[in-house]
Amino acid sequence: MTSPQRPRLAPADDLSAASEIDISAAIAPLLEQRYRSPIVRPSTAVDVASLIDESFPRDGQALEPLIEQITDAVDRYPRRNTHPGFFGWVAPSGLPSDPLAHAMTSALNANIIGYWSSPVGTTIEKSVVRWLAELVGLPSRAEGILLSGGSLSNLSAIASALSKRCGPGYRERGLGSFDADSRPVILCSAATHFSVRTAAAVLGLGTDAIIAIETDDAFRMRADRLSEALQQRQNVACVVATAGTTNTGAIDPLEEIATLCRQYDCWLHVDAALGGGGLMSAELRPRYRGIEMADSVVLDLHKWFFQSLSGSLLLYRDADWARQLFLETSDYLPTLEESVPEQHAFFHLAPELSRRFRALPFYLAMRCYGIERLGRNALHNVQCAEYLAELIRDHEDLELIVEPQLCILCFRFRPAGPDDLEIDRINSEIRDRIQLEGHYLMSATRVHGRPVLRVCIINHATRAEHIDGLLCSVLRIGQSLL
Ligand SMILES: Cc1ncc(COP(=O)(O)O)c(C=O)c1O
Repeated sequence: MTSPQRPRLAPADDLSAASEIDISAAIAPLLEQRYRSPIVRPSTAVDVASLIDESFPRDGQALEPLIEQITDAVDRYPRRNTHPGFFGWVAPSGLPSDPLAHAMTSALNANIIGYWSSPVGTTIEKSVVRWLAELVGLPSRAEGILLSGGSLSNLSAIASALSKRCGPGYRERGLGSFDADSRPVILCSAATHFSVRTAAAVLGLGTDAIIAIETDDAFRMRADRLSEALQQRQNVACVVATAGTTNTGAIDPLEEIATLCRQYDCWLHVDAALGGGGLMSAELRPRYRGIEMADSVVLDLHKWFFQSLSGSLLLYRDADWARQLFLETSDYLPTLEESVPEQHAFFHLAPELSRRFRALPFYLAMRCYGIERLGRNALHNVQCAEYLAELIRDHEDLELIVEPQLCILCFRFRPAGPDDLEIDRINSEIRDRIQLEGHYLMSATRVHGRPVLRVCIINHATRAEHIDGLLCSVLRIGQSLL
């Protein structure tokens, strides 16, 4: 009798060589670049492609020259969000503790689905959720999840509000039982971030379901107009208030809005994706009064909590509505009982299953710096904005368009003489030339239909000298254009 042949397995092709590279040495040149000028250098897609090996990577090559190639490419054609003179859009500066924390996150490669997939990761994320829920002032039963960004957090919160508004059957039948007139709507100010419109489109409400409530002179939602809208409509899925609008940093009157929402039994979602970092400062916290009454709140860690990309915390006062919508089971997953901590799962709170260990960099930063110290940095940003506002007010050739309510202000170079169109042209030119000089960067926006210079100060490394330098450049370039 012949003995059965043992199956043979070819040896594996070992991929571990890359791990021999010293990570801190490899990223040191990138860290050195962070504060270098220019902040951006103009390029065409062809310029950049010429520095990147775009050929199909059939065979491998050594990692060192590749790292060098990418390090050189981003230095040659940078967009340094890290730079203390970067005042554009809403770009996170990142914290000094982040590179190490992100390397740890990758080394560990935990998948934070729930306790069973990562006991330590889940425990750490739950701590982060608890700390920030406490900062907001939500009750201890509040729950939350770290998502990829404010857009997904807003969408998940609005979906949960719909789950409550539509009641049992929404998960199965969606909006099928509603006709056009009874379909739920979302009330929010005209200054609300566009991700709320996207959420309405994705959730099948359609963007027509967004009812824009008028704002006051400071771009805050008018509570009297909201009250009228709530009186007129039975079909409100939620009110979305903003704590730190993208354009001007306005904070809606949260307390008045929350009181109205309670009166009409209506879900209040607060988008504090941009402005939420100010909650870390005891001095700034009173500006958010009323946020503690919200049903859901979004805080983007990768905005004004100074964290590197990416992490956005979605908090629910009562996660039952989210759970009714997102709770899923599968033959391939263990059965999970929410009340048992060892069975906690995050995917019952939002539409993400596999998730990076987003809480680790934040956990380390919070423990390393402490909330009060980070809060002092957020306060300093606001003080920089107020200082800049004062310099602008004091200068006859400058016009403050919107007073800073947090870390954003809008202004124009506006000397006597040129007409409005000429002023528009000069301000666009100032913005472009400052960008070309490379030490500062502002983005453009429109306020009351007119182009303005927008300054967003959310970098912990920004100092008075950067504010002074920016203003000197604006005046020097502005005067040269007259
Ligand atoms: C107020 C506000 N909400 C939501 C978002 C969307 O956040 P993300 O870019 O993280 O998706 C932004 C982006 O700037 C924002 O300013």
